[in-house]
Amino acid sequence: MTTFPPGPKTTMPLGLDFPEKFKSDPLGTAAMMRDLGDISHVRMGPIDWYQVNTPELIKEVFVTKSKIFGKTDRFKKILSTVDGQGLVLSEGEFWLRQRRIIQPSFNHEKLADYGRIMVEKTDEIIESWKNDQKLDLLEEMTHTTLGVISKILFGIDVGADAKNLGDAVNTISVCLYREFSDIFLFPEWLPLPSKIEKHKAVAVLDDMIERAMQKSEKEGEHNTIIASILAAIDTEGDGKGMTREQARDEAITMFNAGHDSTAAALAWCWYLLCKNEAVYAEFVAQVDMLAGKPPNFMDLAKVPMAMEIAKETLRLYPPAWTVPRQANEETELDGYTIPKGALANMFPYILQRDPRFFDRPDEFIPSRFSKDNEHKIHNFAWVPFGAGPRACIGKDFALMEMQLVLIRVAQKFRFKLNYDGEIEVNPIISLEPKGGVPVVACAR
Ligand code: HEM
Repeated sequence: MTTFPPGPKTTMPLGLDFPEKFKSDPLGTAAMMRDLGDISHVRMGPIDWYQVNTPELIKEVFVTKSKIFGKTDRFKKILSTVDGQGLVLSEGEFWLRQRRIIQPSFNHEKLADYGRIMVEKTDEIIESWKNDQKLDLLEEMTHTTLGVISKILFGIDVGADAKNLGDAVNTISVCLYREFSDIFLFPEWLPLPSKIEKHKAVAVLDDMIERAMQKSEKEGEHNTIIASILAAIDTEGDGKGMTREQARDEAITMFNAGHDSTAAALAWCWYLLCKNEAVYAEFVAQVDMLAGKPPNFMDLAKVPMAMEIAKETLRLYPPAWTVPRQANEETELDGYTIPKGALANMFPYILQRDPRFFDRPDEFIPSRFSKDNEHKIHNFAWVPFGAGPRACIGKDFALMEMQLVLIRVAQKFRFKLNYDGEIEVNPIISLEPKGGVPVVACAR
């Protein structure tokens, strides 16, 4: 007889109450599942749902058995309506080939170039702020990261298009979130208002991508990611390149994966800095060593706190608050048999606040990530970018963007939180601050 790891008491047969419970409080439910053991289990109708709660088990699922634990059917079905066969969803040989072709767009030489664009785009946003102005930093950081990704991926200055593009991105995110949380999934062709809305929003992004592809083909320049991937060939594989359709799927995937998450992370950084005045003051003092000069890639070593703040924020508020997997064959975890088709999920938000792996886990202590301390952090206990072969391709890009934006903004403005109390988490597609991060901006 199969034995299962510990699980919660469910009030309906076959655990049919669990999806509702999870939907109404995903993080509270995941914390409760964590408290049950290193691995916990619940049955939801026909599905066995496992949660892995230790770095060792996370390594096993995401690294050692990464070929067995793939992307989930539901995730693929929903996200492919926007991303097609992009890198987040593809699997096997096709995924490997696409990753090989795209990887050079994220090498260190390229990042140095992107850094210049990141600072330019941050400056454009800063220029629109006035002393004593009330701002929502979630919105401002979203405009910043949208500007950055549009320029680097497509060579587009969003400018007048920003609202149209921002609305499309937002609509896609709301529709996908709704589909992820609904139990029933309606077919894509049904003319439901939400499907029509989603298709219109995807068409806005497709139009932008098509314009960017035509521009790069006409002008033959390769300094955008879309142009590089269109021109690249798989030298280690079949010696061929990507079709236009594949390039479109990869572009929309990177566009969607690349800016919401970074914007949410930056908004949380400012929130934590405002809440921790001593850290904020120390950071500003370090930033001032650059004497107001716009930072570049090389300057990051002179402001080590920027990286420490970014990493500590990603520990406390990981935008990818859950990372799901599904077993494509029967396997074993921690002595339990895991049936084919079972889900095995990790929750960076829960793991990274576990007192077994982090002292004073709910406190904002960026120095845990200092050069002297970082090695003490357990491997696979800090996993905001996932783990193993499917870990985020944009990790260095995102960390660099976070550091440059933090430094550039801190050179020009100091924020005061315009909200009493704690800002709650909103676990939608990214883990966002509920209601944004309202501040008053003081020019320096
Ligand atoms: C703070 C910002 C970011 C966070 C927290 C984040 C998080 C993640 C996580 C957790 C995964 C793994 C998903 C899984 O294993 O199922 C992932 C994958 C991915 N991310 Fe990011 N990401 C960020 C920024 C970016 C950026 C800036 C880009 C691109 C410009 C990007 C592009 C991707 C892509 C394409 C994948 C799929 C990689 C593959 O499967 O080969 N991400 N990201």
